[in-house]
Amino acid sequence: MNHFNYKNGLLHCEDIPLPAIAEAVGTPFYVYSSATLSRHFKAVDEAFSDIKHITCFAVKSCSNIAILNLFSSLGGGADIVSGGELFRALRAGVEPQKIVYSGVGKTVEELRYALNSRILMFNVESVQELQALQETAAALGCTAPVALRINPNVDPKTHAYISTGLARNKFGIPVAEAAKIYVEARGMPNIEIVGVSCHIGSQLTSVAPFIESLHKVIDFIKELAALRINIRYLDMGGGLGIKYEEENPPAPGEYAAAVKKVLREVNGCTLIIEPGRVIVGNAGALVTKVLYTKEGIKKFIIVDAGMNDLARPSLYDAYHEILPVIESQETAEADIVGPICESGDFLARGRLAPVAVRHDLLAVMSAGAYGFTMSSNYNSRPRVAEVMVRQTEFNVIRKRETFADLIRGEAVPEFT
Ligand code: LLP
Repeated sequence: MNHFNYKNGLLHCEDIPLPAIAEAVGTPFYVYSSATLSRHFKAVDEAFSDIKHITCFAVKSCSNIAILNLFSSLGGGADIVSGGELFRALRAGVEPQKIVYSGVGKTVEELRYALNSRILMFNVESVQELQALQETAAALGCTAPVALRINPNVDPKTHAYISTGLARNKFGIPVAEAAKIYVEARGMPNIEIVGVSCHIGSQLTSVAPFIESLHKVIDFIKELAALRINIRYLDMGGGLGIKYEEENPPAPGEYAAAVKKVLREVNGCTLIIEPGRVIVGNAGALVTKVLYTKEGIKKFIIVDAGMNDLARPSLYDAYHEILPVIESQETAEADIVGPICESGDFLARGRLAPVAVRHDLLAVMSAGAYGFTMSSNYNSRPRVAEVMVRQTEFNVIRKRETFADLIRGEAVPEFT
């Protein structure tokens, strides 16, 4: 459930009609409902309230500090994948002891920054990364809390680009090799083994792959226990899907119940989850204005948001529902495209789309996750504004970029 609804024929976010925001900040813009954000965070977090757990929101899905701050105020932590995300999380007030750091390519500078910030845990993805972490921690005179990320070789049955738990993916360490590396880690003076982690993919629409991988992780934790290596944190990553179109993903409660049933086998571990999309996906929309329409063998609706603002349709052929801001039942087949100079620049293709004319506003729904965070300046387009709504109020949480922002840091060389 979300808080985008028609009232008196106008699409609202909570109690704000979207045209009011368009008037104040221009278009395109991302708009987030704080009620939906809180509701979804709590739905996931409270589903695990009867066990020791930390909900580490996946910053990559939606990284505005206003949003990170909201989840932190609800008790959440953060799952980060770069120094930049660590900076955001800390600035937003996330407690370092609730931050976990994933990713296959952490630089030494990033390792140092995270060690100095005293984060909860590094999810290490290779032997060389482990060695780099040992060296960096030794140089700083501290100890690095570590979980190895296990690759369980489980098929998450999702888009190939966002599958991460198969042996052929670049992520994690194969289960068969992991015990040996834990033993190696135990011998490293500046490494403290604290956990095991795993993340098999994103936009999963059934519980089964999660459970299959959880069984493998738990069997592995038992193998470690036999080696007298004890694990405090079991991090099972994120990945729970949402409904964009016809999908019917499990509700957080169903997912949590299945996970908790299996978890009973390992007492004393704190569960870490890294949800992103399930919390923010349906809490945000991208609002865009129709610039022109044209009709030849096909009908095109040309809008002011392009693939640089929302990459998902172009990149994954992803479906996003597109609603007219002024309620109407009239539809006709069209491609809804952006101003970018590529035929791959579309928000929807061959869609029964609202019959829209110049200056109409359209809302691209379910754009809260991997929307703004994947946007770019391609075609020298300033990144759009982000707005948060709370009941009858709205606030700009990121200003629209200016042309000056586009060339910030650039210089014409002064060669001698
Ligand atoms: N933890 C790790 C280690 C991850 O790599 C990811 C997502 C998550 C958690 C959060 O997954 P979520 O709960 O949001 O599914 N850009 C793509 C999605 C990429 C996901 C990458 N990793 C998209 O737009 O669909």
